[in-house]
Amino acid sequence: MCGIIGINSYKPVSATIIDSLKKLEYRGYDSAGIATLSSGLINEVKSEGRVDILEKNSLVKDMEGTIGIGHVRWATHGLPNSINAHPHSSQNVSVVHNGIIENSTLLKKFLVGKGHKFKSQTDTEVIVHLITENLKSDNIVNSIKKTLKSLHGSFALGVLFKDQPDLIVGARRGSPLAVGYGPNENYLGSDSYALKSMTNKITYLNDGEFCVIKKTHVEFFDEEGKKINKKVLELSSEDQKYDKGDYKHFMAKEIEEQPTTIKNGINEYLDTANNDINIYNFPWKTKDISSITLIGCGTAYHSCLMSKYWFEQLTSLDVSVDIASEFRYRKNRFKKETLYIFVSQSGETADTYAALDLCKKNGMKTCAVVNVIESSISRDSDFVLPIHCGTEIGVASTKAFLGQILILYILTLKLGLLRKDISEKAFLEKLKDLKNLPNLVKQTLQTDNKIQNISNTFNEAKGSMFLGRGFSYPIALEGALKLKELSYIHAEGYPAGEMKHGPLALIEEGMPVVVLAPRDNYYKKTISNMQEVIARGAKVLLITNKSKDEIFSENIWETIEVESTNEDLLPFLLTIPLQKLAYYSALKKGYDIDKPRNLAKSVTVE
Ligand code: G6P
Repeated sequence: MCGIIGINSYKPVSATIIDSLKKLEYRGYDSAGIATLSSGLINEVKSEGRVDILEKNSLVKDMEGTIGIGHVRWATHGLPNSINAHPHSSQNVSVVHNGIIENSTLLKKFLVGKGHKFKSQTDTEVIVHLITENLKSDNIVNSIKKTLKSLHGSFALGVLFKDQPDLIVGARRGSPLAVGYGPNENYLGSDSYALKSMTNKITYLNDGEFCVIKKTHVEFFDEEGKKINKKVLELSSEDQKYDKGDYKHFMAKEIEEQPTTIKNGINEYLDTANNDINIYNFPWKTKDISSITLIGCGTAYHSCLMSKYWFEQLTSLDVSVDIASEFRYRKNRFKKETLYIFVSQSGETADTYAALDLCKKNGMKTCAVVNVIESSISRDSDFVLPIHCGTEIGVASTKAFLGQILILYILTLKLGLLRKDISEKAFLEKLKDLKNLPNLVKQTLQTDNKIQNISNTFNEAKGSMFLGRGFSYPIALEGALKLKELSYIHAEGYPAGEMKHGPLALIEEGMPVVVLAPRDNYYKKTISNMQEVIARGAKVLLITNKSKDEIFSENIWETIEVESTNEDLLPFLLTIPLQKLAYYSALKKGYDIDKPRNLAKSVTVE
């Protein structure tokens, strides 16, 4: 899974390609590369690591050429080194690829038989040699068509040809790809975000389509090589300038932006004058929906799980939650009364997109909760609920998580009211509390003095556990995920009541255990579970909310108290110390907080 850029211009392109690659790093950052065409030759420069390293390479600085392609990689086949970095080139053709070619072993055998020599361990290199082979007997369009038909799996491709100084080919199956239009130059990119500084005129390729990008115009083809017309979309033209400001890391900034995230969501969906929730253009009648299935990956999956607790508590809808990579291959019972909700920050996650596609093919109602509104999941869903949290750069999701659960909570309340599952009085009370949430998030953000010291104990431990019941269980999972992602510390999120069925065996003297025990319905039960782990030597960090009632438990190592509000909203506040714990822990270890090892912000392979 990777990022692709291509530029066909009348002026030198290498610096612009490098700038665009920096924007695409959220899709992968283990290696990067660029190829341009000049004096009838393909020049290729690649390096292991970040785009910054590639940029410093003196060969890039001297790179000539007004046409070129670039790539950032997240390794699937072969180590993340400069040989496996893209572009991959033969004498005649250079290719950048996002996706996985599933039949690459077979194709490689065939191509080696034909005398082709391979340099890398990647699946991508078969594409280079297949095109080179097909070009022996066919023109560009036919050889591309033939090549694409031979490939199994998913891909977005950018292709440069030695003998074609005014032509880049782009092709898509499964992985997103966009074409952008400029003055006497045209572009190819994994998404419109990478192209935004150059143009706001975009065409998205659909699965099976390919295109030929010339300086003055772009031609589109279907999978049979037949010319097709495509719409040009005009996106909002402001190029979102999002920088770290005075913060050391984007993640720190994004954590602190959460009061604004909540405010934006409230401004968007709450009708404060009439004390109501507006979900404009919701395309279905509530009586036509009897169940909800929520689907996502990673943090977005935790948002789905969180909302299951709210939907069950506040509506009479049947609710199920699925991890997208599991859902897409199961034998699902599709029912027309089910609303399928896809939750994704990027809107490009391959598994979530595939799950959406499957639901659409089965005629289901589909709704997306996304941050990037120009994304594939957003474009292809029947209805979209944007979370409006702005660009999120840190690979480990923070503000997008709060944004997602906010929108899902708002939807829950509205459906609960419309279905008469909650009374108008209860609805109004919850709305009142919700309006105060940005303040509470802000205050909770200020209570972190202790967390820096607490993080030392986590850093010294072999592993840790995060426990919660009810509304706090999904938050425990999210807290554990944050610590794993950022600090590379083994962390397990578990339902507190389930510890006695196995994981209690892991507890040993001094093991740090986070217990989420807000003063909700589950409080007493969770406190009992906490005592069970303390009795076995765990160092418990209790996270609860402020209350005048004393906590009746001895030997708690540390306690953090978040602000108080109604129990539906406590999960928002409990999340904050957990984000900070992961942040400080990684900070002290000196790890790359915004780009943790082996991960990527947007996972566009399955
Ligand atoms: C990656 C990111 C996670 C994110 C997940 C789903 O794994 O590192 O932070 O939660 O993808 O991403 P999405 O964009 O679909 O929310």
